[in-house]
Amino acid sequence: MRMYDIIKKKRDNEELTTQEIDYFVENYTNNTIPDYQVAALFMAIFLNKMNRRETLDLTKAMINSGDSVNLSKINGKKVDKHSTGGVGDTTTLILGPMIAACNVPFVKMSGRGLGHTGGTLDKLESIKNFKVELSTEKFIKNANKINISLCSQTANITPADKKFYALRDVTATVDNLSLIASSIMSKKLAIGTDAIILDVKVGSGAFMKNIDDALKLAEEMVNIGLGYGRETIALVTNMDEPLGNAIGNALEVKEAIQTLKGHGPKDLYELCLQLGSKLLLLAGRVQSKDDALSLLRNTIRSNSAYEKLIELVKYQDGDISYIENPDLLPKANHIIKVKSEKKGYVKSLNAEEIGKAALTLGAGRITMDSVIDLSAGIVLNKKVDDKVDIGDTLAYIHSNDIDKAMDVKSDIERLYIIGDKNKETKKLIYGLITKDGIELY
Ligand code: URA
Ligand code: CA
Repeated sequence: MRMYDIIKKKRDNEELTTQEIDYFVENYTNNTIPDYQVAALFMAIFLNKMNRRETLDLTKAMINSGDSVNLSKINGKKVDKHSTGGVGDTTTLILGPMIAACNVPFVKMSGRGLGHTGGTLDKLESIKNFKVELSTEKFIKNANKINISLCSQTANITPADKKFYALRDVTATVDNLSLIASSIMSKKLAIGTDAIILDVKVGSGAFMKNIDDALKLAEEMVNIGLGYGRETIALVTNMDEPLGNAIGNALEVKEAIQTLKGHGPKDLYELCLQLGSKLLLLAGRVQSKDDALSLLRNTIRSNSAYEKLIELVKYQDGDISYIENPDLLPKANHIIKVKSEKKGYVKSLNAEEIGKAALTLGAGRITMDSVIDLSAGIVLNKKVDDKVDIGDTLAYIHSNDIDKAMDVKSDIERLYIIGDKNKETKKLIYGLITKDGIELY
């Protein structure tokens, strides 16, 4: 087989065979095919696309390029949630304990956040001594004991994706449906959970800026999951403005604790209920959505989800006093108020720009080795559709660097678009994608 012929075939808009896909993934991973040939192939894929069969084969080849994590020793039906990336998305820290408190194992191995979206592992590290690196044995043991385990990838998962992603990044071939879907799903499917819910974000703070594209990506990913023999569903959800109020690592841990105590932001809690009810149904824990919702609400009312977070922290060597007393979490030296100079309603609040502002404050990574300021971030006091008066506080900036804080203050003033009330109220969820197709909300 020759790489030249594979490139030519895709250039001429023909379908690649399973063997051809296996060939280039394997030989690019072990460095026998040069970057320029794979770059040419990706551009041909970008222009002529891949069909569902090719996309599934690509995903399988990427999984086979590295190790898979066998989780069959975890009792019961294990579930996982994956978000395609958003701003202020604190969901995992709330949903995980809620699901575990319903006696369904919630297990997740993740990579770290990059760019304007945050990562769960970084958030957890604002809890003193919390260990995100667990051996697979410990990961499984904890899941069997307390139904929840969250850790970083220890095994060599999809090395092909690492090389592909770096190449796509510099050759303008990132935003192709098959390449995105195979990249995300290969990393998920290499880890042996039984059921996966995908939270596909759409809007200013997401990869997908419009609903049609997000639905297509969700469909593509669900098809890959199903094709690989895993129960997979997706919700397409709003990322036009940040989720909840807090953006930043320690601030989001605090927000998760508040939510688990029943005092969280409405949108964040609602999303956890919606994702959670689908997961409980997938796991076979309940038979109806109503039963799922009442079980989930009860984990908050009874404090059992909060207790589950305490257990998680304890089992991963963290200091539980940081949960019991969130004032111990890393705190910034300066908290600066952003006040409104206008009266009206918040019309929009660009999530990506808010994410970038938090990044400027040090809440995220610009490169893989940037050091995060765990205390830095933004707390929104007004969100889209909220009424504001002149002088009302729109947001609080948490920063250890007063100059950066002042720069971000003027950004945030500019980002709050205030005017007449929006004609349509914002939506949290746009649609559900399952093996039976798309259901629009
Ligand atoms: N996230 C990924 O992991 N891969 C992509 O291609 C896009 C987003
Ligand atoms: Ca948040």
